[in-house]
Amino acid sequence: EAYPLPRLSPLQKLTTDLCKDDKTIKDLVVGRRVGFYKVRGEIGFGTFSRVKLAFHALTKDKVALKILDRTRLDSHAQRLLSREISSMECLRHPNVVCLYEVVETPSRLFLVLEYAGGGDLHNRICTETKLSDVTCKITFAQILSAVKYMHNHNIIHRDLKAENVLLTSTGCVKVADFGFSTQISERSDALDTFCGSPQYAAPELFREECYLGPPVDVWAMGVVLFFMVTGTMPFRADTIGKLRRCVIECAYTVPPWVPGPCQRLIKGILKAAPDERYALDQMMGCNWLLPVEFPWSLVHPEPSSAQQSLLH
Ligand code: ADE
Repeated sequence: EAYPLPRLSPLQKLTTDLCKDDKTIKDLVVGRRVGFYKVRGEIGFGTFSRVKLAFHALTKDKVALKILDRTRLDSHAQRLLSREISSMECLRHPNVVCLYEVVETPSRLFLVLEYAGGGDLHNRICTETKLSDVTCKITFAQILSAVKYMHNHNIIHRDLKAENVLLTSTGCVKVADFGFSTQISERSDALDTFCGSPQYAAPELFREECYLGPPVDVWAMGVVLFFMVTGTMPFRADTIGKLRRCVIECAYTVPPWVPGPCQRLIKGILKAAPDERYALDQMMGCNWLLPVEFPWSLVHPEPSSAQQSLLH
């Protein structure tokens, strides 16, 4: 099998099996239908994919349908895709976009994803310029909760950035886009690509060091935090060479009006040496976040019964 398929919920298994009875899997994609999902308009696109809004015909749940044209995927893109699928299928967390199902046809592949209808954090920061202190705390704590969960499951995201932090209509965080993610044990893989966006890339990525571990996500979280509280990026330059120097030298200045406990958190995260960077547990215990309660049962309403039926 080219792509490992996630386990399906009993309802989804039933609907998929019903289709298989009298049709081939190819016939699952009929006009504006994919399996049991009715497809609506486009809500995003990536290098190899388009994302459309869709509804499950029975549960009426909204989903995001990531559509990939298999004929256009070279071997590198195929590898990224199979990583995305294998990372997402072992993650179930309220702050991580859930992969419900994968539908395959000979020419296309559809990832049926949890829908986050509140846009992304990058857009929110750009439209509101500066988020309130309490919004920053609640948002960052949810990102932290998601990353801690991923790292506990030996998955490094490697492309954390404000654009990949999706929001629901109630402001709940859903970390998305696991295309560059890797299992921590895949050591030989560490050097293969400069993953992600340069503005969020840790110094060790620019120094081309061979072990790129969980601290690359920690660094990117520091950049997201800086961007969220100040409305500007910590490292900016007009060429990649200048950006590289800024990042390697850790040349950033936190504006003096940022609250002291938040300044200390940023400085604890954005450290050039990966082993000196704050660990996730240190972040969770920092003074700036202390007024926010962990875990997040109060921040996240329970999923609806229809949503629950889609979960294992
Ligand atoms: N764009 C990309 N992925 C998405 C998702 N899961 N929800 C909403 N919009 C998206």
